[in-house]
Amino acid sequence: MPNEGSYEVAKKRSDEIHADLLVNPQKYTMLTGDRPTGRLHLGHYFGTLVDRVRLQDLGVKTNVVIADYQVITDRDSTQGIADNVFNMLADYLACGLDPERTMIFTHSAIPELNQLMLPFLSLVSEAELQRNPTVKAEMEASGHALSGLLLTYPVHQACDILFCKGNIVPVGRDQLPHIEQTRTIARRFNDRYAEVFPEVAGLLTSTPLLPGLDGRKMSKSYGNAISLSMSADETAKLIKKSKSDSERMITYDPENRPEIYGLLSTAAVCLERDPRDIAAEISDAGAGALKKLVTEAVNDRFAEIRARREELIEQKDYLQSVIDRGNEQAREIAAVTLAEVRTAMGMTY
Ligand code: TRP
Repeated sequence: MPNEGSYEVAKKRSDEIHADLLVNPQKYTMLTGDRPTGRLHLGHYFGTLVDRVRLQDLGVKTNVVIADYQVITDRDSTQGIADNVFNMLADYLACGLDPERTMIFTHSAIPELNQLMLPFLSLVSEAELQRNPTVKAEMEASGHALSGLLLTYPVHQACDILFCKGNIVPVGRDQLPHIEQTRTIARRFNDRYAEVFPEVAGLLTSTPLLPGLDGRKMSKSYGNAISLSMSADETAKLIKKSKSDSERMITYDPENRPEIYGLLSTAAVCLERDPRDIAAEISDAGAGALKKLVTEAVNDRFAEIRARREELIEQKDYLQSVIDRGNEQAREIAAVTLAEVRTAMGMTY
């Protein structure tokens, strides 16, 4: 028997929900989010944004946290956070998240959400916190000492998910330990006090990870990411200066030709075509022809989104009103949940 926390069990649960979502969308509340550390890029778009909009349009209750407190898990500065929050909001709205249907809010504005952290921390052991593989990997990548907030941020994510009684969280496979942590916390709270929290499931994404232009993991720090906020010209320049290899014949070979693979993958997702067919079509026309095709594919695909984004970013008052409303809604929901928690715990005075 596969154990409760295994990938097989999580996958089966996720498949069942994917099917049920189409029939009973109203049964589901989604929560997900992003750290406002920079601009969203094509990896975010194809990896999660498209899916969030799909769930929203299906009629699932959709909630998105701009996780500002998570930014300071592994750095000393909050510089640029406010600017990133507004830009992230513009990215979301330009991509089709609709503030009438999707609640968008920031951690730091929701005191009652953050207060859940105290009872939740009492439900996990230090050893459990230390075991989370993602936390370890993030600490190593950051080059910083492990802060208390980084060590406990999976518990904070449980607060994000549970304050709004979220029951589905879109995740990649590597994020499953976080979901397991949230499930454990909800179960322990319900067992110890009273049935307050739902059972949460990770909704595994079927889209393969989009590599960066050089075939490595897409990341702003590698300079291989095309962000939604780039102009058509900036996109063209970035693609032009991206590396290729010395072989003229274009082939799809992720292992041995990472740069060509990065370019082909980008064109393929934008055009919704098979990368092998694109390779065959370009054939011995070489990397120059491939880059031209990638540039057009990206710029065509994102022309509308970028035009909308450009308008939105100028409407500071409107963006402010969206974030105000989202935060207000989230505070109302969090206050209700916290009251339930205090009642369950017998802490009402
Ligand atoms: N950790 C996510 C990221 O790095 C953002 C996030 C915050 C989140 N809270 C969450 C994701 C809760 C899923 C569920 O982008």
